[in-house]
Amino acid sequence: MTKRIPFIAGNWKMNLDHQQAIALVQKLAWSLKDHNHDYSTAEVVVFPPFTDLRTVQTLIDAEKFELKLGAQDLSAHDSGAYTGDISGAFLAKLDANFVLIGHSERRQYHSEDDSLVQAKTAAAFRHGLTPVICVGETLEELETEGASAVPVRQTLAALAGHEVLLPFVIAYEPVWAIGTGKVATAEEAATVCRKIREAIEAEHGAGVADATRILYGGSVKAANVAGFLNSADVDGVLVGGASLDAEEFSGIARFQKHLAL
Ligand code: PGA
Repeated sequence: MTKRIPFIAGNWKMNLDHQQAIALVQKLAWSLKDHNHDYSTAEVVVFPPFTDLRTVQTLIDAEKFELKLGAQDLSAHDSGAYTGDISGAFLAKLDANFVLIGHSERRQYHSEDDSLVQAKTAAAFRHGLTPVICVGETLEELETEGASAVPVRQTLAALAGHEVLLPFVIAYEPVWAIGTGKVATAEEAATVCRKIREAIEAEHGAGVADATRILYGGSVKAANVAGFLNSADVDGVLVGGASLDAEEFSGIARFQKHLAL
């Protein structure tokens, strides 16, 4: 079996300007350093707003921080008359390694559907970015279809039709758990992540399924992270609110310490 390095992602959403970004990234990197965090045991990635990316990239580069950088969205197009959109080419130039695609807030407020998520995934692959494809059911869908039907369907739709499937990450985020303080139980999260992996295996083979990191997201905190990552089916977490607090997010990245307790 491939060893999947745990993936700890901080989605800042529309928070922190580029100056506040410097303060947070410095505090986070120093906290992880103070605690002798070994990045080979848990990769730590921040996803700031577009306007912060250049600043954070420069800081990471200058200070030789081991943190990695991601963007919160990208255009399905490479260039042209798409006012307000951001090309994957620009993100790649900024040394962004990852890009969130199809976050539930984009699906909800920008009407992003499965076909746009698929096209954006293709754009990420074209530019050498690793897509972090977000999937998850609403409360209504949970009640009518159960927990795994929608995330499995969204995952397969995002992965359909690509000539080559480059590395990607899936983030399972039940919409009802995002920013609400309501958390899926570790068991619920593990079950859905396992079903997503089984569906990837059935459609794209065991090699792809085995290598793919599948995360849980939705009201993750330092106090509950270890429960999720205790399961072999959950390879990391996508953190919103708690990633805006350097000490809290550092505590999440050091989840192995909680496991050891
Ligand atoms: P939350 O957000 O941790 O604030 O619930 C998670 C996300 O939206 O990625």
